[in-house]
Amino acid sequence: MSKFSFDKITTHLITSGFVYPGSEIYGGLANSWDYGPLGTLAKNHLKEEWRKHFVRENHMIYEIEPAIIMNPKVWEATGHVANFHDPLVDCKYCHTRYRADTLIKDQKPDLNVDAMTIEDLNKEIESGDITCPSCGKSTFTPIRQFQMMFKTYIGVTEEKSSVCYLRPETAQGIFVNFKSVQRTTRAKLPFGVCDIGKAFRNEITPGNFTFRTREFEQMEIEFFFKPGEDMKWFEYWKDECRKFIDRIGIEDSHLRFRDHEPEELAFYSKGTTDIEYLFPFGWGELMGIASRTDYDLGRHQACSGEDLTYLDPETNEKYEPYCIEPSLGADRVALALLCDAYDEEKLVSENGKEDTRVVMHLHPALAPYKAAVLPLAKKLAPVAEPIYEELSKYFMVEYDAAGSIGKRYRREDEIGTPFSICVDFDTETDGCVTIRDRDTMEQVRIPVAEVKSYIEERLMF
Ligand code: GAP
Repeated sequence: MSKFSFDKITTHLITSGFVYPGSEIYGGLANSWDYGPLGTLAKNHLKEEWRKHFVRENHMIYEIEPAIIMNPKVWEATGHVANFHDPLVDCKYCHTRYRADTLIKDQKPDLNVDAMTIEDLNKEIESGDITCPSCGKSTFTPIRQFQMMFKTYIGVTEEKSSVCYLRPETAQGIFVNFKSVQRTTRAKLPFGVCDIGKAFRNEITPGNFTFRTREFEQMEIEFFFKPGEDMKWFEYWKDECRKFIDRIGIEDSHLRFRDHEPEELAFYSKGTTDIEYLFPFGWGELMGIASRTDYDLGRHQACSGEDLTYLDPETNEKYEPYCIEPSLGADRVALALLCDAYDEEKLVSENGKEDTRVVMHLHPALAPYKAAVLPLAKKLAPVAEPIYEELSKYFMVEYDAAGSIGKRYRREDEIGTPFSICVDFDTETDGCVTIRDRDTMEQVRIPVAEVKSYIEERLMF
């Protein structure tokens, strides 16, 4: 776990421009967050690395971008309309609202709440053992099931026939396009389809900053294959996800793989493994890898009447493909990276003065800005600006000419810029700049013409 408190890290993220409270000038909106310029860049870099790893370098995956609002029959077919509920209770005394399973889990961590029925959860709530964290009383309303999909209306009338939902996961946009992707790409099994996009859930208890929100971004893959090859592909995708998490530099000791107990699995599922990260507030799920058999395609085939089987061109067999689903939350992985990156270092200057340096040790490929061009004096702009313009063709680069060079280095450390390029009075004559490394603070002097390749080499994983 990070040695710094969650409060300290999130305060830094808010004050430096990674994340802002949502709708702040109107007093905010509970648990809604906006990404600022730095957070947007960092999250975009994360998505690009995900694309590189799972689409560009893995030659079996196609990316698509399905619509957020889908035909409501999709959510009837998947069971979301009937079953996508959270168990909700209110404290009868102070009226604070809770998710019953979370409330029980926090107070009885040995109970496997994910495997408990509503009746079991109700018994626990009524047992008198569970207390309201807000007022300490033990009297709750019976559990009510709360629909988590956001409802909206298509068209001008708000009536039953025009009800639609904001998608609660991106995955179903993939399943409903399985046939179109297979036909238009002429892909043979095994192959996968992936999607990056927003999902919406009316969570009862959002919280922990961007960890659990009502609007979040998922990066999901559905990987289709011949039935019977489940174990091989389940292991393959667990391994690929582990490689990705390693690649982006999350500290190994902050990670664990958690296999779901058989009681936690849906009846159609052959196994699920979660990858969890040790946040400053405790373990939290970053992603799940689920073996889902032919359940989803089977449901869509039954409910839409479309033939979603696959005709194997080699054996002439026709079957419903099985599927493994690696599903990752972009906001949670971004938050884990930012928690891992935050550091404070004690420095002692030459005159013995102590100081603290805040530094974000993000991998250069994920850092919002790859470099900052810092002219030693404002009048060096004619020398520094062309360097900035040239580097901007290839990377996100900052230009900062205000304040002392020491303060500018510190500002770049705080936002995680890996390379600060100091343009000084010799640059014009010797054609060289000084590059300061964010992590080691060491400086090297190199020709301007070599700066691009210097940065490029260090962006590689
Ligand atoms: N299609 C499978 C699916 O949606 P999930 O475990 O419900 O599975 C996948 O969600 C991932 O989406 C989670 O591992 C998590 O990273 C992210 N996620 C889910 N709910 C979230 C929320 N309320 N806020 C932020 N991220 C969330």
